[in-house]
Amino acid sequence: MIAIDNIRKIRFESVPIDAFWNISDEKELKIHRIHAYPAKFPAFIATKALDYAKKEGRSIKSISDIFCGCGTTAFEARRNNISFWGCDINPVATLIAKTKSRKYQRKRLEKYYNDIIDYFKAKPARDQYLVGNERLKYWYKRKQFNNLLHLKAGILNQTPIDSSYQMFFLCAFSNILKATSKWLTKSIKPQVDSSKKCAEVLNSFKKQCDLMFVANDEIDDEFSKADSQIMTENFLNGITPRPKVDMIITSPPYVTSYEYADLHQLSSLWLGFAEDYRELREGAIGSKHQNYNFAREWKRLNNSGSKIVSLLIDQHKSKANSVAKYFLDMQAVAQRAYGMLNKKGLALFVIGNTEYKGVRIDNAKHLAESLFDAGFSTVVATKRKISNKTLTPYRDLVGKFSTDSTGRKVYNEEFILIGSK
Ligand SMILES: C[S@@+](CC[C@H](N)C(=O)[O-])C[C@H]1O[C@@H](n2cnc3c(N)ncnc32)[C@H](O)[C@@H]1O
Repeated sequence: MIAIDNIRKIRFESVPIDAFWNISDEKELKIHRIHAYPAKFPAFIATKALDYAKKEGRSIKSISDIFCGCGTTAFEARRNNISFWGCDINPVATLIAKTKSRKYQRKRLEKYYNDIIDYFKAKPARDQYLVGNERLKYWYKRKQFNNLLHLKAGILNQTPIDSSYQMFFLCAFSNILKATSKWLTKSIKPQVDSSKKCAEVLNSFKKQCDLMFVANDEIDDEFSKADSQIMTENFLNGITPRPKVDMIITSPPYVTSYEYADLHQLSSLWLGFAEDYRELREGAIGSKHQNYNFAREWKRLNNSGSKIVSLLIDQHKSKANSVAKYFLDMQAVAQRAYGMLNKKGLALFVIGNTEYKGVRIDNAKHLAESLFDAGFSTVVATKRKISNKTLTPYRDLVGKFSTDSTGRKVYNEEFILIGSK
């Protein structure tokens, strides 16, 4: 860890890697893998963050993750009996996070599961392809489309309405939507693979439920009763009151790397979170779909932000535009995060740098400066290796990780910044 004493001089590339943040001391629980989620961070980051706070002599009784994603920090907070408040703008994220935040009774899970399967098998799926949602039909073959509709009806019919058990099975349903569709496997860009062998619906659902049952079994019966609130909202303008917390542990979105609304369009459409998934792009930090007055607003950028945007502006106007919006949003995030912390509170951010056509997008430096501007009295920084990216440090044209060095370079390290109030 190094303390940043001069933000203008610090070079983040030369911040040393600290092995403490690289690997886990224990095996990650299966619950953290019940549903795919892009840029999910390893659960041990949350545990190590708590160890760090302890070493610093802070007593942490409440935690927040303001970009809670699939609920990694939320789950670890509960496991440590610490109250939690979190939000995410993506309803698919909060569906997963909420599903993970409780222990289910095995007997009840099995009963509902058998009822759903019986419902599904009792009669064949009706053919509703012709009247189906056009966008969904684009992604599915007729058979899978009808079977998914039938399965969803089974879940809604056979589980108590709006119960956590219904949520559990809808979460299982959500995670089979890509495998059963023509979505190009593992692609982070929506793309049809017309030669794909789409998975069978019932089989996929059974396997997914098995995995989730085992994950649930692993959770201690005494799973904490600490309060946990997970909201679907924009951190920057959400309306629910923000509690004061002792620590924020989070990883913000990266600029224009994942379009979460696009990536989760199958779940959002099937589960009725939106009529048109593009509505869900609104307010997403880091999205390239931004509508704001660049000429007027970019003057509000801090020093690190305006330097980077100036480098982009001549040659890559639209990129400059979205990077500037991202930086402005992150400046607002730093201020809001500061406002949520109790006296002596800590805010830990996991953040990576990127590069665009030779211009280094130094997100870490920009965030560090934003934290100081927001009022944090100290900011320390360290670097960690991302183990799974070491072997596949590039992205190919559709965004898959690859070993091909002609692809776009993905950094295999990221920064941890900790601001202290
Ligand atoms: C890097 S991911 C967080 C992943 C999380 N740490 C996990 O383990 O799953 C960043 C998250 O920020 C969310 N996000 C983007 N803009 C947001 C906003 N304005 N308010 C709240 N969440 C937002 C995205 O939906 C995404 O889930």
